[in-house]
Amino acid sequence: MKINLANIKKAKKILDKSDCIAVPTETVYGLAGNAYSDNACRKIFKLKKRPKYNPLIVHYYSIHALKKDCQLNNNFLRLYKKFCPGPITFVLNLKKTSKISKIATNKKKTLAVRFPRHKILRKLLEQLKYPLAAPSANLSSKVSAVTSDDVKEDFGKKLKFILEGGRSAIGIESTIIDLRNKPKILRLGGLEISNIKKILKRNIQININPKKIFTPGQFKLHYSPGIPIRLNIKKVKDDEAYILLKKIKKRNKNYFYLSKKGNLKQASKNLYFILRKIKKKKYKSIAVSKIPNIGLGKTINDRLIRASKY
Ligand code: TXA
Ligand code: MG
Repeated sequence: MKINLANIKKAKKILDKSDCIAVPTETVYGLAGNAYSDNACRKIFKLKKRPKYNPLIVHYYSIHALKKDCQLNNNFLRLYKKFCPGPITFVLNLKKTSKISKIATNKKKTLAVRFPRHKILRKLLEQLKYPLAAPSANLSSKVSAVTSDDVKEDFGKKLKFILEGGRSAIGIESTIIDLRNKPKILRLGGLEISNIKKILKRNIQININPKKIFTPGQFKLHYSPGIPIRLNIKKVKDDEAYILLKKIKKRNKNYFYLSKKGNLKQASKNLYFILRKIKKKKYKSIAVSKIPNIGLGKTINDRLIRASKY
């Protein structure tokens, strides 16, 4: 998609006034505001109906800007070099001198940061004098938005502007890794753990369902399309939407395929898109066939399990 400079200018003007807009990222759309502004961050929480204790992730253009706000370490530098900009979020210690709004962090001493790859958002970030706080642009605990229409569906006229960026290429949220001590995965996402392991050359703790909730994305009820979901289903009911990993010969209008040939990257890109589509078609429930629990299949299963706790 081409960069429309007039749109970038409009986005900047609104953000400079501490107002919020939606922005495209390669993972999912974000609900963005100036991360240094208490007012902008308050607006994000209000619009999203997000509980105050759930901190916002912050998006930077480059490492130079990040250095002012966070303490960097070797693991971070290695992963940054290999994967950024891209679908990975780092939890780091804040510097005492950081200008990040305490509303954004809920007064925590840590910050979740990301360098999004989407070229339209990068163009915008490059022109701003501040990083962008931007949680996923969906109502709290619902399915994330992967198109500007999805964002409109959730926020309607309450949101002044959506920076159009086409459909999100990855379509599922970033992988979150806590790098303050021993690397620990807090959320499975669009970047496979095996790739991270190769760079850090060590085993990584996975802490996505802890007893004590550290990241609210770890809550069981999350990513919910608002209708019941049954998992690992072979026999579907007639009035149920049926999600399959790949196309099969039998054609039914209630069958939805995550990918033509069962490719997991494509499947994760299509997951939220299809969940929203099914909801719009007014199905009352969803059955999902078994998804292999390998690579990005693990991320897909993680989201489906949480969505099924509805
Ligand atoms: O791909 C993504 O990460 C998207 C796009 C828009 O960048 N953003 C996203 O934001 O998924 P959100 O707010 O829906 O999920 C971010 C997660 C939340 O579960 C939040 O609790 C967690 O990151 N988080 C934020 N700050 C944190 C911190 N300091 N420590 C641990 N977890 C944190
Ligand atoms: Mg979210």
